[in-house]
Amino acid sequence: RFERLWFGVSLVLIVAFIGTIIYGAVGPGIAMVDDSGGTVEPSVIADGNYEQTNNFREPGVYDTEDGVEVYVIARQYFFQPGTTEPIRVPAGEPISFHVTSPDVTHGFNLAGTNVNTMVIPGQVAEFSVTFEETGEHGIVCHEYCGSGHHTMEGQVVVV
Ligand code: CUA
Repeated sequence: RFERLWFGVSLVLIVAFIGTIIYGAVGPGIAMVDDSGGTVEPSVIADGNYEQTNNFREPGVYDTEDGVEVYVIARQYFFQPGTTEPIRVPAGEPISFHVTSPDVTHGFNLAGTNVNTMVIPGQVAEFSVTFEETGEHGIVCHEYCGSGHHTMEGQVVVV
């Protein structure tokens, strides 16, 4: 008498099960699409702050009267500057970093220092660090950001 009910229940369970499998298979597929997806140009970042927006158009090291300011764009799969050219900063004075991302969440970890921040798309991660000694520090992206994540690294050179 309850056979129909049990048949129905097991049918629902089977459908749910298959649904889970399909979701598991399609989920990563969606992430892959995001990887190669559209790129927002940095100029739209930090909207409303002209100076900041302008600096991200020309990311790099700025020696201002308020100190050294470094503007970095983290994107799949490099730091600009940092990867193709090292970020060169002086030792013994506070360096203000501004790091943003136009695509997905990245990480900004400076080896041998306590610098360790997330870089969220459309937001600017800001921190100040003083390098007491000259030398080199690797920049590591420690947030999974796609197929090239493990290759995403750079370098800070303290002179
Ligand atoms: Cu960028 Cu991982």
